[in-house]
Amino acid sequence: MKILITGASSGIGMAMAKLLYKDNEIIAVARSKEKLDILEKTTGCVTEVCDVSDFSQCRKLFEKYTDIDVLINNAGFGDLGYLNDTDLDKGINMINTNVTGLHALTKMYLDVMVKRNSGYILNVSSIASFFPGPLMATYYATKAYVTHLSKAISYELKKQKSNVYIGVLCPGPVDTNFNKVANCKFNLKSQTAEKVAIVAIKNMFKRKTVICTSFGVKLARIGSKILPDSILMKFAYMSQRKKYYK
Ligand SMILES: NC(=O)c1ccc[n+]([C@@H]2O[C@H](COP(=O)([O-])OP(=O)(O)OC[C@H]3O[C@@H](n4cnc5c(N)ncnc54)[C@H](OP(=O)(O)O)[C@@H]3O)[C@@H](O)[C@H]2O)c1
Repeated sequence: MKILITGASSGIGMAMAKLLYKDNEIIAVARSKEKLDILEKTTGCVTEVCDVSDFSQCRKLFEKYTDIDVLINNAGFGDLGYLNDTDLDKGINMINTNVTGLHALTKMYLDVMVKRNSGYILNVSSIASFFPGPLMATYYATKAYVTHLSKAISYELKKQKSNVYIGVLCPGPVDTNFNKVANCKFNLKSQTAEKVAIVAIKNMFKRKTVICTSFGVKLARIGSKILPDSILMKFAYMSQRKKYYK
């Protein structure tokens, strides 16, 4: 299969590329050329430098690799802090990466896959998509977009009796570069990126729509359906506050 993975220079995306490269043709996408070069040398993946926060670069990527079987929209990042203390440029870049870039690639590839009546799209969201997240407000909101968009498209595909699959991956804390980029450190037990990659790929090929990567994430998802936002936000705030350096 031809599989395009965004955010493949590190963490979960790189773990997915390493898991899949032996039996598939991988197109590994990210901004850091040096990290992609190492991946290319060690695995033989095709690599492509692309900033998915820039729509014109997403379009070029799609035009170069239109004919793929699997799209994994994994590129993304967070930022910790009271919104009034965070950097506006970083926030806008996060929205352009986590939301706009993911939306653009999903839409462009979906059109092709629906016409062909085959293909897989896996969008990487988070446990953060289940409720509002004080101290990481923008990140939680971007991931809510990813989960809702993916679930709604999945419903539309089923209504059209399409063979195309779209699913959403919801990990809890994972030990990657995420913390460094988001200016925080986890106080909860983290999963490894390798474990998350295995759960993700196995369940994608089982065509599961919402993929929770651990028992804790499944519990959080159930909790988010029965508890009011005021309680959920209290938990989210308490958990994020421990990571806050200030
Ligand atoms: N780690 C966690 O606890 C956790 C939990 C739930 C969900 N997630 C989600 O999992 C996904 C992967 O994150 P990770 O934990 O593996 O973190 P990571 O190690 O920091 O990896 C993030 C990847 O995204 C790429 N990226 C960031 N901005 C990009 C852009 N504008 N264009 C192209 N690539 C970009 C980075 O590469 P370059 O810098 O080279 O571009 C890197 O390869 C994210 O969507 C994240 O929100 C993570």
